[in-house]
Amino acid sequence: MKHNCKEDQIHFVDDDVDPINFIRNFTKTGIQEQPFFVFEVEDVINKCLEWKEKLSRITPYYAVKCNTNAMVLKVLSNFGAGFDCSSKEEIEQVLSLNIDGSRIIFANTIKQPSHISYASENGVQLITVDNESELYKIKAQHPNAKVLLRIRSDAMVSSHKMGIKFGSDVDSECPILLRLAQTLGLDVAGIAFHVGSVCGEAEAYRRGIILADGLFNLGKSMGLNMRILDIGGGFKGVKGSSIDEMAKIINDALDEYFPPERNVMFIAEPGRYFVASAFTLATLVYSKRVITDGTTNSLSHMYYINEGIYGSFNPIRDYAARLYPIPLVDKESRKNVSCSIWGPTCNARDCIIEKIEFPELNVGDWIAFENMGSYTFTGACNFNGFPITRTVSILKKSSKTHLKNILDWIEEQATSNN
Ligand SMILES: Cc1ncc(COP(=O)(O)O)c(C=O)c1O
Repeated sequence: MKHNCKEDQIHFVDDDVDPINFIRNFTKTGIQEQPFFVFEVEDVINKCLEWKEKLSRITPYYAVKCNTNAMVLKVLSNFGAGFDCSSKEEIEQVLSLNIDGSRIIFANTIKQPSHISYASENGVQLITVDNESELYKIKAQHPNAKVLLRIRSDAMVSSHKMGIKFGSDVDSECPILLRLAQTLGLDVAGIAFHVGSVCGEAEAYRRGIILADGLFNLGKSMGLNMRILDIGGGFKGVKGSSIDEMAKIINDALDEYFPPERNVMFIAEPGRYFVASAFTLATLVYSKRVITDGTTNSLSHMYYINEGIYGSFNPIRDYAARLYPIPLVDKESRKNVSCSIWGPTCNARDCIIEKIEFPELNVGDWIAFENMGSYTFTGACNFNGFPITRTVSILKKSSKTHLKNILDWIEEQATSNN
């Protein structure tokens, strides 16, 4: 019987084991059939350490929607992060890990009333808003919430502009919303913005901070006690990317516009930054077709793998992200061929890569894709009956000594899995 790896299975590995050679070993017996993610726990730990070093004044509230893996949440919790949740279900998941509601921000500006009252009943105080109807809902369901007014402040370059759906206009809408919130007796605690996912214009953070400064001043003149600034997400997270330029611009702008005497607390909602590079997806080539071009006599190879655009590759297309495929074969012994890579469903759109030069593959070979930690399986569905891909985590043996809290939890998991 073919094996399907167990979620939250932890493998303690030697220090020289990386996800790629882990996958080579894990698949070489031929028993593994299902695709699987390998989560390299150290990668998230290193991101936490980098964040603490470069953006030390800003508490990250990790965007849970990006990757809901329980191990990710637990690692981030141990490093003191908060959590940005979009729905009652995400709040439930975070609370189920014994994380207090006070460490959650309900950062979807459009909320179902029952989700708002759930947040209220479970100690989730921070909540973002960008329109009048939501202010009325909050007044009814969660009158003691700490409300952050989300403003529109898009980067000129990003993979996903948030402003087309979210964020109130600073000049035409925000003054009206602030007045309404005040009339309703709500606690307007501050301002939030999101420059857009995979922000390609670091200056956008400075613009957002300047807009927030103007609104803090307006709020002060109205007698509001604004004290929290949320600079959102947008930080890149793939291997080799850097947050240095963004961190410099953000830190300089905070020094200039929000000096310590202003007593403002800074938070952010990074998603992909923490997880993109930490997950590698392993997929099996389980079928193959070779087509001859009638005119040129050239061959093209179609490889079918067991993950597709209705699964973990679904969001990749929307976000126009690059794919990082690695054929797990001895490249020296295979000639390069022109090929396309397809997903497993009966839908003809289910094509992952239309054209690539790749070593010739056979049925039974594996392809790994790096940088697959953000918005992958959380955006997947089980179209055609294919299940959502599971994750195995790897942790270097030498990290054990530094990770007492995480390990306690891992051991609890292992006990309950047995
Ligand atoms: C409200 C909100 N905060 C944070 C994020 C995370 O953004 P990113 O993954 O670009 O950091 C998102 C992404 O959709 C979002 O909608």
